[in-house]
Amino acid sequence: SPVAAVIPAAGRGVRLGPGAPKALRSLNGTPMLVHAVRALAASRAVSLVVVVAPSDGAGEVKSMLDAHALPERTDVLVVPGGGTRQESVRLGLEALPPGHDVVLVHDAARPLVPVDTVDAVIEAVRGGAAAVVPALPLADTVKQVEPAGAPGAPEPVVATPDRSRLRAVQTPQGFDRATLVRAHKTVTGDVTDDASMVEQLGERVVAVPGHEEAFKVTRPLDLVLAEAVLARRRL
Ligand code: C5P
Repeated sequence: SPVAAVIPAAGRGVRLGPGAPKALRSLNGTPMLVHAVRALAASRAVSLVVVVAPSDGAGEVKSMLDAHALPERTDVLVVPGGGTRQESVRLGLEALPPGHDVVLVHDAARPLVPVDTVDAVIEAVRGGAAAVVPALPLADTVKQVEPAGAPGAPEPVVATPDRSRLRAVQTPQGFDRATLVRAHKTVTGDVTDDASMVEQLGERVVAVPGHEEAFKVTRPLDLVLAEAVLARRRL
């Protein structure tokens, strides 16, 4: 069955510094969101992409996407987003027409994910997992701290989890559609990804190998890296 993708792109990108909403900023002359839509549409399984735009910018995003070439077999819908990533994803899910049993959720801020990673996530959902996350081992050791009151103040270290059992999780995350919709209807509280909502339902969530180039463009240095990766690909 065909796969649909929801791309939350309604974030302001505050950590990137002043400027346009993050997804609309350009990487080597092409908006980040266009790179992200192309990255998912590169998978032959993906027949629909729902872009969740800033709530006051859906029209602008629609005309921006219309001005760029995308594969003909992929339909693109644009819907207005919400105040949190979770709410934006939920609004994207509500806009999905029937007929897609597998749904990917992909950050617009990960514009360079390779198609092989997208296809590996889809394969694992089709293989029976309720949710699938692309994940990488950590380069850095991770510490749990007691957050300090004041910014910059020393923070007491509480624990050092075994790094070999930790993974940094990327997108696209892939889902059995009905399970993801149920998670968004029933799980409340702050979460930072969609798979954690499915975990809270007690469903089986698995990790497959992620890719270095699926990194999230968050801070100014990430823009430098993204443009270097595109230049290496001659884009
Ligand atoms: O803030 P964070 O880096 O977790 O954002 C991840 C993705 O969620 C980005 O693509 C961003 O545009 C999107 N987002 C959204 N709606 C919000 C906040 C973030 O669609 N209200």
